Amino acid sequence: MSKFTDKSKLLSKSTESIISLYPNKYEITIKLKNGKELFIRPVKSTDIEMVQELHYSLDDHDIYYRFFSLGNTFSHCEIQDVVNINYTKEMVLVGEHFEDGKKKIIALGGLFRKFDPTIGELVFVTHKDWRDLGITQFLLKYLVKIGRELNFKKLGGSINLCNNPMLHILHTIEYKWTMKKINREVAVVLIDLMEDLS
Ligand SMILES: CC(C)(COP(=O)(O)OP(=O)(O)OC[C@H]1O[C@@H](n2cnc3c(N)ncnc32)[C@H](O)[C@@H]1OP(=O)(O)O)[C@@H](O)C(=O)NCCC(=O)NCCS
Repeated sequence: MSKFTDKSKLLSKSTESIISLYPNKYEITIKLKNGKELFIRPVKSTDIEMVQELHYSLDDHDIYYRFFSLGNTFSHCEIQDVVNINYTKEMVLVGEHFEDGKKKIIALGGLFRKFDPTIGELVFVTHKDWRDLGITQFLLKYLVKIGRELNFKKLGGSINLCNNPMLHILHTIEYKWTMKKINREVAVVLIDLMEDLS
């Protein structure tokens, strides 16, 4: 390998970390249905333990809806991928709550770039104590806005057909979306970011 190639590799690596600086423009405080405020911000690599704790708080039912399987579904390696993202390509937002001198992540909404670079994969988790307060509805709308800025054309993912809260949330979005049944339990949802219905 020539010296030139080595240098250009170094350059592209450092360029990536520069353009992937933490985007504090997405930090926002929202008011929940119970009147409490929640700080929403992009994930940071230092969040690893708090994200792990959020996932450990899930019961088998939630884990099945989130991962479509039970067992060791959230390894250290997978969490690394969730908290170390290139913000220019993907986004993970977390809800941070401060209580009794301790910071906690109580909700997470992610938008990941998978095989097709134009389609973003969405995932959501809210801690049981914080459900039905409008957090995921907010995160979905916010990720749709960010997804457009990151040049995604569609956002989607798999959904369990018994996941009534998630199905209900989908009906609140202002974009055209389709749902294709894969089997008796699971469907694939695709939100078309080119078709704003508002
Ligand atoms: C699905 C999930 C992320 C929703 O999070 P959340 O922050 O509680 O969602 P929101 O509060 O924004 O919205 C929930 C809505 O569902 C409604 N809802 C709750 N239970 C419901 C049910 N059984 N049937 C229909 N609607 C229901 C709520 O009333 C609320 O709607 P509203 O605001 O119009 O009243 C959360 O339940 C969760 O973490 N589940 C486990 C993981 C999962 O399923 N992830 C999604 C797949 S990636």
